[in-house]
Amino acid sequence: MTTLLQINASMNNSHGQSSRLASQFVAAFLKRDPDVKVVVRDVATAEPVPHLDAERFGAFITKPQDRSPAQEAVVAYSDALINELQQADVIVMGLPMYNFGVPSQLKAYFDHVARAGVTFKYTEQGPVGLLTGKRTYVFAARGGVYAGTPLDTQTGYVRDFLRFLGITDVTFVYAEGLAISTQSKETILAKAGAEIAELAA
Ligand SMILES: Cc1cc2nc3c(=O)[nH]c(=O)nc-3n(C[C@H](O)[C@H](O)[C@H](O)COP(=O)(O)O)c2cc1C
Repeated sequence: MTTLLQINASMNNSHGQSSRLASQFVAAFLKRDPDVKVVVRDVATAEPVPHLDAERFGAFITKPQDRSPAQEAVVAYSDALINELQQADVIVMGLPMYNFGVPSQLKAYFDHVARAGVTFKYTEQGPVGLLTGKRTYVFAARGGVYAGTPLDTQTGYVRDFLRFLGITDVTFVYAEGLAISTQSKETILAKAGAEIAELAA
């Protein structure tokens, strides 16, 4: 059975445009193949991922046998996030742009799933990602229009981060210019919807 992990990162939970587009894709995907297990991880609102600090990172790098109960809890939380990624065949990500970057909770999520020896390893040839064989779809919602310009700080970063973990098959769908006018918003969402229908077909 295929497992699909939907990661939402909007401060507006499932009502965010990025979450809606991601859910639209998941619905189309399920229509084509109803035998799919869907797991939803809301990193921003339902269970916001805490920022990585020295204490949390310290827990990651402490040997298992030396961890305190508090450190074990930190590692167990990170392990649970990683386990969802490991189990996923398909990853669907809602990606809002806030102040020219990814939502801070999504960055915190990335910080909790990038673990040496677990999701990537260092080799003589450099780092090697361990989360291979996954397809990923990213639904980017933005008030302005930046794709293909130096102001698009998200696409390269998200692609690079996923590649670092071994996830190389990544498709982006953009809904850009959403803050420009109601009319353009409808047109933009309809265009993204058409792309979603095509992708899931
Ligand atoms: C705090 C905040 C900061 C934002 N910063 C940007 C920005 O830097 N560039 C941009 O194009 N849109 C920006 N926007 C608009 C959002 O990208 C747009 O509302 C998008 O729909 C957010 O995704 P969401 O609806 O899934 O939350 C910002 C919106 C908010 C609320």
